[in-house]
Amino acid sequence: MPTLGRFHYLEAIPPASSHGGGRRGNREAGTLLLIHGFPLTARMWEPQLELARRGWRVIAPHLRGFGGAPAVPAPARSLDDFAGDLVDLLDALHVGEAVVGGLSMGGYIAFALIRRAPRYVRGLILADTRAQADSPEALEARRRLLAAVERVGASAAADEMLPKLVGSRTRTDQPQLVETLRAMILGNPAETIAGAITALMTRPDSQPLLATIACPTLVIVGEEDGITPPPMSEAMQRAIPGAELVVIPAAGHMSNMEQPAEFNRAVADFLDRRL
Ligand code: MLT
Repeated sequence: MPTLGRFHYLEAIPPASSHGGGRRGNREAGTLLLIHGFPLTARMWEPQLELARRGWRVIAPHLRGFGGAPAVPAPARSLDDFAGDLVDLLDALHVGEAVVGGLSMGGYIAFALIRRAPRYVRGLILADTRAQADSPEALEARRRLLAAVERVGASAAADEMLPKLVGSRTRTDQPQLVETLRAMILGNPAETIAGAITALMTRPDSQPLLATIACPTLVIVGEEDGITPPPMSEAMQRAIPGAELVVIPAAGHMSNMEQPAEFNRAVADFLDRRL
């Protein structure tokens, strides 16, 4: 895995002969920056690394403290902390703009980038995410989870999240995927997870931002997503000018891992047509 100072990230580079079936001949199409969900790691994006064959340089960083990345200068406690790290990483890589894709918490962080540093965002992929801030009930559940993570560690987050992350078809047909997710969660330090819970709890309502988004945008959601159900994605698509929506059949919240071929087809089609 490449590292650059404090940054650890997965990377896939287009092969020299790549023409990707796209419209650009042999020209590299640009950078696709993929932001992982809570409380996971960049490894959730492994099935998307093959998008490099379509001519895109794919970069998927471990967010601060996750996946073995160092939590320096301290665990992040706001989505702006994570977004600032991503700007620093893009600067360090000399990438002036990227198509930014985020799943769930990754989508919330993509909104923070749009808010704070829009010039880095050339296109947007919002997967299994929502624009709303936490409701009072959701905040109460987060407080309970935060206390449990501080008391018993990452296993509390795994116990809370795993029953909700994948759809019923995946649970039956791909039980190993749940174990992959469990291993990702258990590998993360409790302080990192606790900081991220605080970041989730304090995130702003991004609904007023949606009408101002000026870049090509794709909204994706698993049809069985119980954490950010399809109606939330439909509302986001309606509110973002020119946005497109793809619903992935037989997938829950982790639509990119549960149905990678469908997910990648949707992303590749969007990139080819709109970027
Ligand atoms: C995620 O997948 O990142 C989380 O479910 C986000 C959340 O809990 O709001």
